[in-house]
Amino acid sequence: MIHDLGCGTGAMGRWLAPLLPGPQHWVVHDRDADLLQGAAADPPGPAADGAAVTVEAKQSDIARLHPGDLADASLITASALLDMMTADELERLVTTCADAGCPALVTISVIGRVDLTPDDPLDAHIASAFNAHQRRTTGSGRLLGPDAVDAAVDAFTRLGADVLVRPSPWRLGAAQAALAIQWLTGWVGAAREQRPELTSDAAPYVRRRLAQASAGRLSVRVHHHDLLARPR
Ligand SMILES: C[S@@+](CC[C@H](N)C(=O)[O-])C[C@H]1O[C@@H](n2cnc3c(N)ncnc32)[C@H](O)[C@@H]1O
Repeated sequence: MIHDLGCGTGAMGRWLAPLLPGPQHWVVHDRDADLLQGAAADPPGPAADGAAVTVEAKQSDIARLHPGDLADASLITASALLDMMTADELERLVTTCADAGCPALVTISVIGRVDLTPDDPLDAHIASAFNAHQRRTTGSGRLLGPDAVDAAVDAFTRLGADVLVRPSPWRLGAAQAALAIQWLTGWVGAAREQRPELTSDAAPYVRRRLAQASAGRLSVRVHHHDLLARPR
């Protein structure tokens, strides 16, 4: 019984289910009904040993789960999620996961570091504005952004879990140019939203970078961390 929190269109299950042996039932949670529909429509393939994998979509606010909601889990997963949470939401979520008494695998959390090759004088300004955007204050409070992994490690450790953290960078080179362009557009867009005064410099920057990416001359490393918390 695997609960995937903030599942989006279900990428975690499609990656992980075929790597695990044995029958699996995935409960995929998201607050976005359209994304959940996508997850249910594109379920994971069979398990590593050919056993059946089933999926159940659940519309939930994972920042407000009740203690029993994950009690039947033998594994909890999440990916690309932690940065979107406030400190209080993360603390509540980690407590609910720890109460379930099973491993929690939390993958590809941003940590606020990006390397672009070749480098450009504007890289650091865009990165700093992007990180400030990640830490912006919303109606729910201040988001953790790149501080979320450290906060999650602290919380899981305090609640008695053994925690492993490993690097998990996205490596986008010439072969992933389309994805690099998509990533760059979103990265700069968030930076401009946070610091509109960057706009006059950002427009030529984006043109330079997109030309490099289209020509296969841009390589990007977006640093992330994966975390595995196991009850002692
Ligand atoms: C960046 S996406 C990652 C999706 C998926 N895990 C992946 O790796 O492709 C973050 C997802 O978390 C969901 N999400 C964020 N906060 C949530 C909350 N409080 N309750 C439920 N879902 C949430 C969003 O709707 C979105 O689908």
